[in-house]
Formats: sequence, C-alpha cells, structure tokens
Amino acid sequence: MSEYKIEHHTYDVVVVGAGGAGLRATFGMAVKGLSTACITKVFPTRSHTVAAQGGMSAALGNMGPDKWQWHMYDTVKGSDWLGDQDAIEYMCREAIPAVIELEHQGVPFSRTDDGRIYQRPFGGMTTEFGKGIAQRTCAAADRTGHAILHTLYQQSLRHNAVFFIEHFATDLIMDEDGVCRGVMAWDLANGVLRLFRAQQVVLATGGYGRAYFSATSAHTCTGDGNGMVARAGLPLQDMEFTQFHPTGIYGSGCLITEGVRGEGGYLTNSQGERFMERYAPNAKDLASRDVVSRAMTVEINEGRGVGPQKDHIHIHLEHLGAEVIHERLPGIAESAKIFAGVDVTKEPIPVLPTVHYNMGGIPTNYHGEVVTLKNGDPDSVVPGLMAIGECACVSVHGANRLGSNSLLDIVVFGRAAANRCAETLTPNAVQRSLPESGVQKAMDRFKRIHQANGGQSTAQIRDDMQRTMQKHAAVFRTGDSMKEGVEKMNSIYASFQDVNVSDRGLVWNSDLMETFELANLLDCAQTSINCALNREESRGAHAREDFPERNDETWMKHSVAWLDGSGKVTIDYRPVHTYTLTDEVEYIAPKKRVY
Ligand code: FUM
Repeated sequence: MSEYKIEHHTYDVVVVGAGGAGLRATFGMAVKGLSTACITKVFPTRSHTVAAQGGMSAALGNMGPDKWQWHMYDTVKGSDWLGDQDAIEYMCREAIPAVIELEHQGVPFSRTDDGRIYQRPFGGMTTEFGKGIAQRTCAAADRTGHAILHTLYQQSLRHNAVFFIEHFATDLIMDEDGVCRGVMAWDLANGVLRLFRAQQVVLATGGYGRAYFSATSAHTCTGDGNGMVARAGLPLQDMEFTQFHPTGIYGSGCLITEGVRGEGGYLTNSQGERFMERYAPNAKDLASRDVVSRAMTVEINEGRGVGPQKDHIHIHLEHLGAEVIHERLPGIAESAKIFAGVDVTKEPIPVLPTVHYNMGGIPTNYHGEVVTLKNGDPDSVVPGLMAIGECACVSVHGANRLGSNSLLDIVVFGRAAANRCAETLTPNAVQRSLPESGVQKAMDRFKRIHQANGGQSTAQIRDDMQRTMQKHAAVFRTGDSMKEGVEKMNSIYASFQDVNVSDRGLVWNSDLMETFELANLLDCAQTSINCALNREESRGAHAREDFPERNDETWMKHSVAWLDGSGKVTIDYRPVHTYTLTDEVEYIAPKKRVY
C-alpha cells in the first residue's frame, strides 16, 4: 500500500501545459469530440504566453502586398538554414486561417482605420524575398499573448475541456515497447498523486529560459516537458540554440518588445550613434535578433556601452510621441516605468540582450508527433506522445527564431496536434491499464525527491547552474569557455544527488515543486551546453568566436542528445528537411530528401 494518496483518470487526450499551444490543442481536441484534460502548474491565464507582447506573424497582406511564400523564405533564412522546410511551409500557409480563426474566436486585435487586423513590421520579415520590409505581425497593442491566451481559455471552457489546475506533471508513463501511455501529476493543493491514462499525451510545457540567470521568461519556464522526455530515454534536439532578445530591461530582464523597433524605435550607444546602421545597413534595427544581440554585445565589449559601467545600450521611442506610444505600446510605457524608472515619452530605456527563447526541444514532425532516431529512421514516431510550442523542436525556427513566429508556432501546431488526434484517435476507445513498471518508476522518483535529505539547497544548486550557463553559454561562445562550463555543469548536475528538501508536506510545498523544476532545468542546461561545445561552427544564435563561419558541409544537421541519469550526454544527428510539401515553393529547396 502506497504512503501517497493516488487517484486514476482516463481521457482520450491529456495535454500538459495551458499556454497558447496547450490551450489551442485542448480546445481543438474538445471541439473534435475527444475527451480532453489539460494539466497545468499555474492558472491557465498566468501561463507565460501572457507575456508575449509584439504579435503573431501571418501574411494577411492587410498593410500592403504579402504572401506566405515570402514569409516562408524569411523563416528559412532566419533559421540560418537549419529549419525543416516542410514544417516551415506548413506553418506559414496555415498562419492565415489560424489568425482568422482566432479573430472569429474573439481575440481583440488592434485595427486599421478600415477595420482590418493591424500588422506591424518585425525583424527579418520582408517582402519579395528580402527586397522590402513586410508589415506582417498581427498585434493586439503590445499585449497580444494576453489577448490570445484569454480567448483560448474561454473557448476551451466553452467546449467542456477538463482542467487540472495547479497540478505539477512529474513523469511520463512509458511501456516496455516505448509507447507513451500516460502521465503522473501531483495535485499541489491537496497532495494527491494523479495517474492519467490517455491515448495521446501532448506536452506543451514551454521553454527553459530559467536555466539562465537573466531571462525574459517567467520563473515557471523550467523545461518540465523536456525533462520528462529526457528521463523517458528520448532525445532532445538542437539544444545549443538559445535566443537572446536584444531588449530585456537592464537589471530585471523584463521584455521590451521588438514591436518598439517595429513602430520606429531605435538603439544607440554611448556616443549617441545608431550603430545598427553599421552592422545591418538595410534592415538596421529590424535585423534578426541574433544579429542585433551580437551587435549590441560588440558595442559593449568595445567600450561603447552606456551607463556608469558602460554595460548596456539605450532604446529610444521618445520621438514616436505620447499618442502613438499610448495607443500601440501602452504595456511598454508601464514596464519601463516600473522596472527602469523611465518615462518613455522623455527618455530612452536601458536594455541588454537577455535570454528569451529556446529553439531546441523535443523533436517532432509537423503534426506535433514526437520523433526519434530508431533503426536507421530519423523520423520514427514515438506512439502516444506529442509535443507543441516552445518545448518542441518542429523545427520551424532552426538556429534562430524570427520575432512573432512564436505566437504563430503555438497556435498553428496546437491546432495541427488537435487535427492529427481527430484523424488518428477513436473517441472513448478502451485503453489498457497503465504499465506497472512505468508507474513504479514514476512513483519511486517522486518519493526519492520528496524524501531528499542531502546537504545542498535547491536554491544554491539553481544559482550555480544559472550563473554557469550565463557565463559559459553566452551570446558569444568559445570552446575553452564552454569546456570550463561543461566541467562546472557536470559537478552541478551531480550535486543534485545531494539535494535537500526541507519541507516533507505535500500541500503547497513550493520547496518540493522547485526541486522538481530544478531537476528539469538541469537536464536542459546539461544537454544545452554539451551540444553547444559539440557544434563547431557559427549558425543563428550559436556564435562561436573560434569557429566564426557557418559550415553547411559538416553541420547542416540537427543535433539530438540523450542524457543518462548521471548527466552523461550522447549526441547523434538528424538530417534537416530541405524538402517542401508542395510544388509552390520549388525556388527554395530541391524536392528530394537530402541526408
Ligand atoms: O519582442 C517581442 O514582442 C517578442 C516577440 C517574440 O518573441 O515573438
């Protein structure tokens, strides 16, 4: 008899995570008549999608000519040719109906004078294959994620999806054949352990920005799905690619949307120079994020940073005028006041490149099905398991994501997962019992961490990890610094064996929950820094000073990394999909598969 209270649940689909991807999937599954539960560690409308500001890209052409093919070209190029082109084509085509659906579902988009959805320019978004600047990013002022999240939650409730709110999913339940059969979750309010059985588990757990010391990500972005997948013996993909957003507020890391530069804002150094003109003469401040973040870092490293320590940069929007600021960027005015004490109508905001997004994650195909390398097949589907949103690596962002392609990714692939489940699952089909060995494994781990009685605090191990990642897996990387980082991470990873959980309760035990989160972050950090050391080239967000060039011959491939329980990382590769889905985009890639 277990010392824990256990309850059993069965659904056709269990979605883990209630950000934009999780809610779009949950609502889509429920609409299709599948019994659907959504497990979420925070209240749905507190999920990190709520913080997405600038908007969601889609070639609607409301502000001038646009085509999904141009959007696709920008995304392939922005990914530095590491994105899978079948998935990118799917995303850019489906962007258009996906946004229109959101509008019909109730998202209060900003409007043009003639009543259409307002779209603003964003970095790397062009017309005619790089010739002009596209206005492609659909915005609800600078609170687009907030608007989308609330709409999707309301739609999910309307279609009778069941929510398990403030539940922490600890482990997948896998059977001996490698099929995912369910998931275990801890009910934070009453300590019950819930065993969910499902035909399909969909991970939508977001990114792992909190592996770093300074991030725009919420404190809840702890790579929980990635950790579960790694522990299930499955690989994580392209973990070396971490995006630094150029404009996190200096000191707090709070996001200043790229929409500021889309509306005409610009960066200056200590000499008052608009330095982006030197680095990207055409796109200037609207170059892609990797380019802008590197330029800012060079300015600071060469002594042209602002402030007493010369360690940050200024972004200006004073010239836009109070009316434009308050209509289009009201949230920015508020955040700048709170976190930097700045009145944006009068002064610039102090900013610094800040960890923002993980391009890597759980490898999937464009239906959202998790894939792995098996018996020589690089696209082998893991039955019963899907991943969508930032925890997944579809891979539509490759080595670098374009701004506003993330809200798009979560909506398009949340929707794709629901469509796939509607095609492949039978509602209310009889399910076998959960495999005993899988349940036991999850229970044993829960107990081990709950009873952890070592000598090191969760907070200390987390701090060591965050500082190591910040220093050794930064905007610019070198082999020597990363080797030092890997050595430090090996010992930090091992120190988790000696962690101490001081509170033995099971009700609102934040000490225990943070320890589970730390375990997931450690898995992400360990794979990330090892893959970064392994990739000896510069591509997208991975900028190596010792290998400054992109090397397509050797490195145009996805890294896939397995982690064993001791922290050892084994790396292999999957080919980039350089083939597309239709004939309409033959100018981008040859249609045959290239391995
Ligand atoms: O700058 C922003 O508003 C962020 C958007 C994004 O990451 O897509």
